[in-house]
Amino acid sequence: MKSIDFIREHKNKDTPLVSLTAYTTPMAQSLNPHVDFLLVGDSVGTVLYGMDNTTGVTLEMMIEHGKAVMRAKPHVPVIVDMPFGSYEEDSQEALNNAKRIMDETGADGVKLEGGVSMRVQIEKIVKADIPVLGHIGLQPQSVEKEGGYKIKGKTETQVEGLIEDAKCLEDAGAFAFVLEGTIDEAADQITKAVNIPSIGIGASAACDGQILVTEDLLGLLHARPPKFVQQYANMKGDIDWAIKTFAGDVRARRFPGEEHLYKKAS
Ligand code: KIV
Repeated sequence: MKSIDFIREHKNKDTPLVSLTAYTTPMAQSLNPHVDFLLVGDSVGTVLYGMDNTTGVTLEMMIEHGKAVMRAKPHVPVIVDMPFGSYEEDSQEALNNAKRIMDETGADGVKLEGGVSMRVQIEKIVKADIPVLGHIGLQPQSVEKEGGYKIKGKTETQVEGLIEDAKCLEDAGAFAFVLEGTIDEAADQITKAVNIPSIGIGASAACDGQILVTEDLLGLLHARPPKFVQQYANMKGDIDWAIKTFAGDVRARRFPGEEHLYKKAS
C-alpha cells in the first residue's frame, strides 16, 4: 500500500515515480498494479466528454469520477483535480470544495493549478490535513486567459517565476507538484530548486516522476497527441477492427452463434 508520504519522500531517487490519469473503475483497476499514484484529472472533460478544454468541468463531475476510481479500491494514492472556478477566488470556498471532494470520494488528496497566486488556498487546504499536489508550468485551466496552450520557461524571467512558484508550493505544504509543458533545461532547474518531487508532463526526464493522460499513451483518442506523448498501443485501431468485425458478423448472420443462445434445459 503506497502513501502520500511515499510520494513526498520520493525526491532525487534513481527510479522516478510513475503516475497516470484514471476516470473510471475499470481503468483504475488496470492501472493500479503499475503506478505510484493515480490522478483523476480534469482532462476528463476533453478526453471523455469531448470538451474543447478543461474549463467546463464541474465539481460534481470530478466527484463522480473520483468515486468511480475509488470503487476500484486502488492500493496507491488517488488525487482528484479541483476544477476551474472551484478554488481560485476565495480560500474558504477552496477549502470547502476540497473537503467535499475528500468526503464524497474518499480520495487521498487534491490537485490545483497555480503557484504563488494560489499560496493562501494551498496553505488553508493543507492546514485542514488535506494533501495538495501543485501544478505549475503550462496550466490547462488558463488556456482561455492565455489564448492557447503556451510552453513555459522560454525566458530567464519565466524560469525565475517558475522557481518562485515551485518554492512557494513547497513552503505552502504541497507534497509534490506537476510540472507541465516546460522547456527541458528549465524543468531541470525547477526540479533542483526544491525538496518536493516534480512530476513531469512535457517537461524533463530529470523530473522526480512522470505522468501522462492514459488514453493518450493507449492511442485511444482521435485527435493527434501532443509531442510529449509516447503511444504504447493503438487502441483506436483495435476498436475500429473489433467494431467493423462485429458489424460484419451481424450483417452476415454469423453473430450470434449457437454458443451465445439460451436453450431450454433438455
Ligand atoms: O487533468 C489532467 O489530466 C492533468 C494531468 C495531465 C497532469 O492535470
